[in-house]
This record gives sequence, C-alpha cells and structure tokens, in this order.
Amino acid sequence: MQIVTSPVELQKICLKWRCEGIKVGIVPTMGYFHEGHKNLMRIAREKADKLIVSLFVNPTQFGENEDLDAYPSNHEGDAADAKALGADILFIPEPGSMYADDHATWVEVPQLAQGLCSATRPTHFRGVSTVVTKLLILTLPEYAVFGEKDWQQLAIIRRLTRDLNLPTTIINGPLIREKDGLAMSSRNAYLTQEEREQASHINAGIRAGAEAFEAGERNVEKLKDVIRAHWKQHLPLGKEDYLEFIDPDSIEPVSTITDKARCAVAVYVGKARLLDNWPFYL
Ligand code: PAJ
Repeated sequence: MQIVTSPVELQKICLKWRCEGIKVGIVPTMGYFHEGHKNLMRIAREKADKLIVSLFVNPTQFGENEDLDAYPSNHEGDAADAKALGADILFIPEPGSMYADDHATWVEVPQLAQGLCSATRPTHFRGVSTVVTKLLILTLPEYAVFGEKDWQQLAIIRRLTRDLNLPTTIINGPLIREKDGLAMSSRNAYLTQEEREQASHINAGIRAGAEAFEAGERNVEKLKDVIRAHWKQHLPLGKEDYLEFIDPDSIEPVSTITDKARCAVAVYVGKARLLDNWPFYL
C-alpha cells in the first residue's frame, strides 16, 4: 500500500489507471476507522481492481464551534487497517493541499441540504459536497462507497454525482452497529461510560417506534411519541437535535407512512452528536 499525500500525485496515478482500463474504487473517510468504515473498504475491494481509501478531516464541513480540532485520529492504526483490507493507496492529503488560500468554488445541493443535519449545521453539506466532488474528480473512480449511517449525506452525494455527470457509481454500504444497537461512529469515542450505556437507547427508542409501526401505527406524530417516551425513560442524558420521518429519496418529511419512510435522528449525548436511521417500509 502506497501512502500518497499530494493531490496532484494522486491524480497522476489515477489518470494512468483510467487510461489502462483499471477500475478504481474509493472509500472517502475522515479516519479513526471502525467496522463501519472497514466494511465499506471490503465492498469496494470486492468490486474494483484498485482500492483507494482517503483520510482527510475536511475543515469546510465543520462549523465554527464544532469539533474539528478535537476530531479523533489514529493514522498509524488506520494505515494498518487499510493495508490489511487490501487498499492500494491511502490518500492523506498534506494540510493545505486540498484548499488553496483563495479557494472560492463550492458544490451545493440545496434541495437535499435542508432540514435534518442542515438545520443545526447549515454549511456542513456544502463542505461535504465540495470535498467529495474534488475526491471524485481527482480519482475518477468506477465506484465510490458511502455508508447508510449518513442517510442525508448519501442522498446528496448520489444527486451531485448524477447532476455533474461524474463517471462513478455510488454504492451504499449498510449501517454497522455495536452489539447493543448503537450506530458505530468515530464520535462514540467522546462518550463516558454512562453516556455510552444510555446511547444504545437511541436505537432502542427507534425500534420501539418500529414495533408500533409493525402493529399498524402509520401516523408519524404518534410514532414520534413512542420513540420520545422511550428516550425520556432510558436516555435522560440525551438531547434530541431532530427526530424526523422522511421520504428515503427526496428527504422530504412525511406525516403518514403510506409506502416507505426512513426515521432519521440526531441526538446530543455529552460532547457527541450521534446519528441513526431506520427503515419504516410497508
Ligand atoms: P466519516 O464520518 O469518516 O465516514 C466515512 C464513511 O463511513 C461515510 O460514508 C460514512 O457514512 C461511513 N460510516 C460511518 N459510520 C458508519 C457505520 N456505522 N456504518 C456504515 N457506514 C458508516 O462521512 C464522512 O466521514 C465525511 O463526511 C466524508 C464523506 C469523508 C467527506 O468528508
């Protein structure tokens, strides 16, 4: 596995591969790998001839008072994991090499970047869309794999890839959870033991809602009541950021489930803001 730190160097290698008909798969990440990331690498490894993993804590997707400086990092461990999973390149751009000082070009998908995470993080998806577009242009991959944990992010990336005619197929990787149901996240490292125990109830609450749904409840407000009642009892350290039922493709909120909806949540627990989502499909 080669570690590449220069975007220009990465582009050179990938253009050569593309000319030779070698199919690249990329897994963009911000590092501090867990099974969720590693599973995306396995998926890409299976589909493509060459696997590129990128590790870049992208400053433009963090708001002013967010955790950019505190974001957990473990470059050595990550490099060992990427190598063990068969990565050909680990791209860790040098600080400053991804954005010129006078960088002024942004990719935005405003229709999908509203509500949910955008409500509290208004510039977040502009940063995500821009960096992902840059990574896809740098590497021109056949496949790029993103996790279903970040449902809104995945919808935005699918849309920008189609709208900008990028020559890449976006593949969904399933949401990987801890044994107790907590969605794996690099930010779980911020939790104290007590917070960690309660955090499993983010998902347990959603599943209580899913049980009510299976028993016939289709009214979203009633389903939200069930979920919030569970959280109130078992997750007193949690503070809801949002709890929404959305159309899985358009991300628009729904009030009654007639076909399929995705329950998407963000909950603050201690220093962490944790995401989860779950299918409510008829
Ligand atoms: P990061 O949070 O490091 O996640 C990298 C990839 O791993 C994303 O596609 C994310 O959805 C996926 N992922 C994270 N936790 C997961 C889990 N428990 N199960 C399945 N997949 C999971 O998401 C980002 O970085 C950034 O926004 C990025 C796309 C790299 C742009 O900077």
